[in-house]
Amino acid sequence: MVELTLPKNSRVVEGKIWPKPQGAKRVTEFRIYRYDPDGENNPRVDTYYVDRDDCGPMVLDGIIWIKSKIDPTLTFRRSCREGICGSCAMNIDGLNTLACIKGMDEVAHPIRIYPLPHMPVVKDLVPDLINFYAQHASIEPWLHTSTPAPEKEWKQSREDREKLDGLYECILCASCSTSCPSYWWNGDRYLGPAALLQAYRWLIDSRDEATGERLDHLEDPFRLYRCHAIMNCANTCPKGLNPAKAIAEIKKMMVERRV
Ligand code: SF4
Ligand code: FES
Repeated sequence: MVELTLPKNSRVVEGKIWPKPQGAKRVTEFRIYRYDPDGENNPRVDTYYVDRDDCGPMVLDGIIWIKSKIDPTLTFRRSCREGICGSCAMNIDGLNTLACIKGMDEVAHPIRIYPLPHMPVVKDLVPDLINFYAQHASIEPWLHTSTPAPEKEWKQSREDREKLDGLYECILCASCSTSCPSYWWNGDRYLGPAALLQAYRWLIDSRDEATGERLDHLEDPFRLYRCHAIMNCANTCPKGLNPAKAIAEIKKMMVERRV
């Protein structure tokens, strides 16, 4: 019989319970994943208590409060604090989302926070997104043209511009791709919902002149066809986008160009 052994550090253990803030009347408990792959220790879940009367209402406010008032070693990404940059994506209460636009009172307590699933961890809540960004680059997310450039801009009708709605708003937070079981198991070869949503955005841009080449690049058993319409991507996207629908549209384009 085959014996499988999990890596030494694969078990998440109970971590430190930090003291409650003194004199706080309204306190919310956070349970946060901590891991330093350069160290010897297993991942752990630390418990913190946030003074809600000294802190903003969003989950990110709570994490920033913990870092500045309790534990400066807690590591996470964030920038805009208004759902625009995509850097604060993490798994909160079992769902991949943006910490800066998720209210503490919108999720179950204690608030459980993990990094985006199935990605290598750089530290604590910071996943390694090198492969994710390389996949985005591979679909060449810019205008491809062969006709001479116009004197001013490439024009587009209002109707053609509207076809990009629901696509251009993607902020590349990676919540969708890291919620997708197909991406978990084949993330090295399947492009995943985020990159494919962007691939479709350029495929239907009326100004783009490389539709055939773009489809050729995606015509592959793994890059596109590992999507099995599980729909986790659409359910988790914090911007309300539907990558599964975009992927279905690409598959339709593949069929249409054959007939
Ligand atoms: S489609 Fe949504 S979940 Fe996926 S990367 Fe874009 S914004 Fe994030
Ligand atoms: S900090 Fe920019 S999206 Fe949350």
